[in-house]
Amino acid sequence: MDDKNISQAVIARLPRYYRYLGDLKDKGIERISSQDLSKLMKVTASQIRQDFNNFGGFGQQGYGYNVEYLYNEIAKILGLNEKHNLVIIGAGNLGQALANYMNFERRGFLIKGIFDNNQALCGKEVRGIRVQHIDQLEHFIKENAIDIAVLTIPKDGAVKTAEILAGCDIKAIWNFAHVDLNVPESIVVENVHLSDSLMKLSYGIVNKK
Ligand code: NAI
Repeated sequence: MDDKNISQAVIARLPRYYRYLGDLKDKGIERISSQDLSKLMKVTASQIRQDFNNFGGFGQQGYGYNVEYLYNEIAKILGLNEKHNLVIIGAGNLGQALANYMNFERRGFLIKGIFDNNQALCGKEVRGIRVQHIDQLEHFIKENAIDIAVLTIPKDGAVKTAEILAGCDIKAIWNFAHVDLNVPESIVVENVHLSDSLMKLSYGIVNKK
């Protein structure tokens, strides 16, 4: 499947479909009409049909969607049918919080290592994973088929660390540092800024009718 022409807006909606379908599957629901899915998710049925048409449909006239099939197909589109090995760089509050969140593993994101440049943290265990010194990072990535690096360090060190990661042929960076990274286009970067979401919330408050 060529996903080059699929808009980022559609891709951004897929995880939400995936979550809802996962809940339906867990409740033993085998099929759902686009109208019922629409009511549940508060998205128009035509939006759902349009979104799924990007990937060849999935639905059958008069039957609706097969929940498990659709769930599995969206998982494949999102690459969730494969396991991804990841490392967390920065074993502070945020890095430890992410390492402690078990649900990533359920989705196939396996936390293989945690790194920090603070010697005092090295050897400490977070959910059974020992924090290692950042000097070990390059070797570890190469030896453990790491796909994803999670950057939970201050912005000062993040650009340099991203350069090191690029040199290790990392596939993707989940970047929490408040800085834009300068890495080759072949590396997928997803920037996460929780404060952006909070600012949108603030906008919602001040513009409430
Ligand atoms: P923290 O101070 O608790 O932890 C940062 C850790 O990174 C420390 O253990 C420190 O030793 C380590 N570190 C610093 N430079 C390093 C380097 N070059 N290589 C390896 N380790 C290094 O801070 P916290 O609360 O965990 O936040 C981490 C960063 O994430 C902060 O810069 C903060 O601004 C940012 N942040 C971003 C959020 C977002 O939504 N994008 C939300 C919260 C924090």
